[in-house]
Amino acid sequence: MGLPQLPVPSLGAFDDILRMAPATRPTAMPEKPQIADFMALKGQRKIVCLTAYSAPMAHALDPHCDMLLVGDSVAMVIYGMDTTQNADLDMMIRHGEAVMRRRKSSLVVIDLPAGSYENSPPQALASASEIMAKTGADAVKLEGGTDLAPHVKCLVDSGIPVLGHIGLLPQHAVAGAAFRITGRSEEEANQLHKDANAIVEAGVFGIVLEGVIEPVAASIAIGCKVPTIGIGASASCDGQILVTDDVLGLYDAFTPKFVRKFANLQDDIGAAAADYRAAVIDGSFPTKDHLFWPKKT
Ligand code: KIV
Repeated sequence: MGLPQLPVPSLGAFDDILRMAPATRPTAMPEKPQIADFMALKGQRKIVCLTAYSAPMAHALDPHCDMLLVGDSVAMVIYGMDTTQNADLDMMIRHGEAVMRRRKSSLVVIDLPAGSYENSPPQALASASEIMAKTGADAVKLEGGTDLAPHVKCLVDSGIPVLGHIGLLPQHAVAGAAFRITGRSEEEANQLHKDANAIVEAGVFGIVLEGVIEPVAASIAIGCKVPTIGIGASASCDGQILVTDDVLGLYDAFTPKFVRKFANLQDDIGAAAADYRAAVIDGSFPTKDHLFWPKKT
């Protein structure tokens, strides 16, 4: 059976350059980030990944990251929903397009949202093809191990790079319940190894290991031939990922144990808003420099 033809993805960031008159185009065109370069980082240095859901955040994070993930965590972080299960294809595409407008050198990976891929490999292929065609992203991510290996293989065989995600799977968590760390029993540890092997065999270019106890995560990371990206897993992983809003102290609904806040922007925003309020009320803003005046003739 012939595989469906994928629409040609938009050139994203390169569109702007191609629209310029040839004389004004930069001589060295920025290279599209390559999956192979990302994979080659394994064993060279730690891989740096963060989530991004918007154009300005992509612009700010891109120089510091190897990968930006348009995670389905957007549903909770940006839309205030209870679970990532509320994300849908339109939401992921809209935020994926925004991130692609400002990324330069980071790989951009977009989550397949819950309900858009699990039923069958053809369902996964239809959803992933739509995301790739509409956003021009580099890859998709999906949650699951042995059960999802046929889905991964179908996407990879069709030319869509896939990042795996095993361990704690937020798309399967019960809304409101605490996230459960995995790998504590021998049975679970064995299953995690089987999950990692199955999706590597199916062709993933990397694996996110989330919420896995240290020795199990470390042994998967060390034995895995593709890069492993930890979140609440081992420091032996080849890289780390966190939700950017956690790192910046912007998301205050809860802070998981594995998060370190590198800034406290909620407090900074509150302080800025209080200063603005005071300036508006006492009349010190706007000044004459912020206003428009008739042109001098
Ligand atoms: O949706 C997300 O942000 C994620 C990361 C936390 C790995 O899947």
